[in-house]
Amino acid sequence: MGEAKGHVLFFPYPLQGHINPMIQLGKRLSKKGLTVSLIIASNIHREPYTSEDYSITVHTIHDGFFPHEHPHAKIKDPPRFNESTARSLTDFISRQKLSGNPPKALIYDPFMPFALDVAKDLGLYVVAYFTQPWLASLIYYHINEGTYDVPDDRHEDPILASFPGFPLLSQNDLPSFACEKGSYPLIFKVVVSQFFNLRRADCILCNTFDQLEPKVVKWMDGQWPVKNIGPVVPSKFLDNRLPEDKDYELGDSKTEPDESVLSWLANKPAKSVVYVAFGTLVALSEKQMKETAMAIKQTGYSFLWSARDSERSKLPSGFVEEAMEKDIGLVAKWVPQLEVLAHDSIGCFVTHCGWNSTLEALCLGVPLVGMPQWTDQPTNAKFIEDVWKIGVRVKTDEEGFVSKEEITRCVVEVMEGEKGKVMRKNVENLKVLAREAISEGGSSDKKIDEFVAMMT
Ligand code: UDX
Repeated sequence: MGEAKGHVLFFPYPLQGHINPMIQLGKRLSKKGLTVSLIIASNIHREPYTSEDYSITVHTIHDGFFPHEHPHAKIKDPPRFNESTARSLTDFISRQKLSGNPPKALIYDPFMPFALDVAKDLGLYVVAYFTQPWLASLIYYHINEGTYDVPDDRHEDPILASFPGFPLLSQNDLPSFACEKGSYPLIFKVVVSQFFNLRRADCILCNTFDQLEPKVVKWMDGQWPVKNIGPVVPSKFLDNRLPEDKDYELGDSKTEPDESVLSWLANKPAKSVVYVAFGTLVALSEKQMKETAMAIKQTGYSFLWSARDSERSKLPSGFVEEAMEKDIGLVAKWVPQLEVLAHDSIGCFVTHCGWNSTLEALCLGVPLVGMPQWTDQPTNAKFIEDVWKIGVRVKTDEEGFVSKEEITRCVVEVMEGEKGKVMRKNVENLKVLAREAISEGGSSDKKIDEFVAMMT
């Protein structure tokens, strides 16, 4: 580790899918010599601790909720979260400024625009870090600018929307918050308000890379001080310049993955297993979960399914036991997803198209079957299918339900169809570009170096 150059504060929106990309960038900055503090807004206090492998200290600040309240209560009450957290953040930064190594910058998640105002008022350099891709965030930008009007309702003939640098998008391709006026009013406000004060940010980072969204990036270049610094997938699976960076943890593993799945995969032929996982938040309806299970079974391929307890209970009765007895499938609570995707036996990934899962699959060269549910996932799925051509997206009926025939069709197409072969080739090409971007001298690595130089 080099000599300490400057101290930066990271302030992620406190959901795992947002925290992980912050931790990952923090690791890279720390290895390039910066001192990094990670501030987590929480209803549970934890004493600060410093990770062994990186010079990253994790602090909690109070988010205004009681310890007995559900950690996701904050999503449902943004005013309470914002007001209390802004106060806690002000106190925290003010104290840090009196320390022996006062912070120079705050890197915040634009889901919390109040953080920009707090840090500016306290004289810090302020950096907005988008952990979701431009292809979703820019749609929220156009809504905020008034250059895109969210339709009043869902149309039977989905109308097309046009955005600079994008292919034409049907209503089904838009982020769920931008499909229909009045749906998800609280989260709609959160995603659009990312842009309320963004012009005041000194720098803007995004967990993507120039070659992945080139048209969008070109359009943005003239408008914003943007640096694309991704993909911030753990280094072991990309450039391996941080060999100890094997997962999203900081050496204090919170979620113990079920490593036994790797020995199960070890006996499977190359590209023979379907991996199924829907991230940390998505909850399929019981009917959809059962239909998906029947589809996966009827494809005849071996499968590995990561299903949290709440999801596992929706599987058909006897499904898990039968799969194990016949050695055709394994259902686990939480798997080491990166190790799984890197495993030679994996033939395709049935996914909700969360941004982290999407980046991980393309960094590891695994083609996708997209079953997007909400938020940025439909737009990610559109790019997966039509722009990058690294997977297919299932078609839904008018209720949003996907039949087992449709899921089977898509899995078979990706596993052994002619189009599947092209997708595999395309995803291999993107894997190379992703590695180049983050490797020494690559576009994202250069942007990270420029940022470090600014903090020195
Ligand atoms: C949320 C939103 O749902 C998503 O749309 C947005 O892009 C990011 O925030 P999440 O649902 O958690 O994300 O999905 P995703 O972004 O794909 O992240 C899931 C993470 O959990 C991945 O890093 C994946 O590797 C990890 N994971 C998942 C495991 O390590 N093991 C598992 O068994 C399942």
